[in-house]
Amino acid sequence: MNIMNLLDFLDSSPVNFLAVRTLKEQLEAAGFQRIDPSRPMPGMKPGGQYYVTKNDSSLYAFRLGRKPLAEAGIRLICAHCDSPTFRIKPKAEISCEGGLVKLNTEVYGGPILSTWMDRPLSLAGRVVLRGRDALHPETCLVHVRRPLLQIPNLAIHFNRQVNDGVKLSRQKDMLPIIGIITEELEREGVLMRLLREELQTEAPILDFDLYLYDATPACLFGLHDEFISSGRLDDLSMVHAGLAALLGAGSSPQATQVLAVFDNEETGSQTKQGAGSPFLASLLQRIVQAQGGTPDDYFRAVEQSFMVSADNAHAWHPNYSEKYDPTNHPQMGGGPVIKINAAQKYATDAPAAAVFAEVCRAADVPVQYFVNHSDVAGGSTLGNILAASLPLRGVDMGNPIWAMHSCRETGSVADHTYCIKAFTKFYDI
Ligand code: CO
Repeated sequence: MNIMNLLDFLDSSPVNFLAVRTLKEQLEAAGFQRIDPSRPMPGMKPGGQYYVTKNDSSLYAFRLGRKPLAEAGIRLICAHCDSPTFRIKPKAEISCEGGLVKLNTEVYGGPILSTWMDRPLSLAGRVVLRGRDALHPETCLVHVRRPLLQIPNLAIHFNRQVNDGVKLSRQKDMLPIIGIITEELEREGVLMRLLREELQTEAPILDFDLYLYDATPACLFGLHDEFISSGRLDDLSMVHAGLAALLGAGSSPQATQVLAVFDNEETGSQTKQGAGSPFLASLLQRIVQAQGGTPDDYFRAVEQSFMVSADNAHAWHPNYSEKYDPTNHPQMGGGPVIKINAAQKYATDAPAAAVFAEVCRAADVPVQYFVNHSDVAGGSTLGNILAASLPLRGVDMGNPIWAMHSCRETGSVADHTYCIKAFTKFYDI
């Protein structure tokens, strides 16, 4: 795997819906077949490769093992495709003096607000068009591929204390400017006109799920190009590593390999397409049935399975060493990180950590550990939320990055390569 493949993946996946589309394209190119969950499951043969999507924003891909689920369980890698951003509100256009138009937005997840200022932004998401009847509207994905908006800072001359820290209002300070309109505005407004041009459609636009994204492409930097700079490394880098492992793993595995990419991790996962949904558990039940298994076989499969919940970790930052645990602070480039928390915000326990460390050892990949500084609360992730509907044993892990939830995060090339090696070994064990 070439690291440029990751950069392409990041650039073609500015938001959740487009990340799922990118995944679909790569899976289909590798021979994976789409399953429509509203239809009966197809026959399940060993080596069969399938994928299912939910809401166009979560995706579940699997390659069936030689042994049925009841005997070998699944090897699950899960990650999330959503990232902190700004969602465009309905009736978004606000006209200001001089013809300036800004867009009204709402914050999605927990971005570092200031990092979204003074950089070219653009729009991506999905647009809903009138369909065959009211219950079945048509959806189209939109990816505006040019710089379109910016959230300008206030000049330092108006706030001499700006470098002592600024409190930003999400409603006042963070609204992006999209243009200057001098002609008479059409009734439908600039945003609708833009969407219509992007989609090249005359059909009535009923609604949209649109988000801002950083219009500057991902890149490498450093003396030896050892760092990755991009938006959405959390958690698209782990999604990409999972995909690369699934595509690179053996095609006739003993146990069934599953890649689950959830939406809405950044807002708590409690949606039909999030890790809190019973969708994945139901899918596994249906696979067991399609293999001729009994309801009891499903519970046997759950007991045989192992989950790697992959979400980025915090790399040790040389400017802020006091924020880190004195003995468990992963280094950039030091390999994948096992995340541990006494309150079980991370699913990891000692046997699961040992399993993942052994997988890394077998793959010749170094492994690191992250525990919060005891005076710092820390974050949470997918593993435990998924376990509430699908009680798998498993580990929470991720690659170390800096500036998590910045508009632009920093990761390590070496760690990405390590992670793919470890994931591929995990699928093949
Ligand atoms: Co994350």
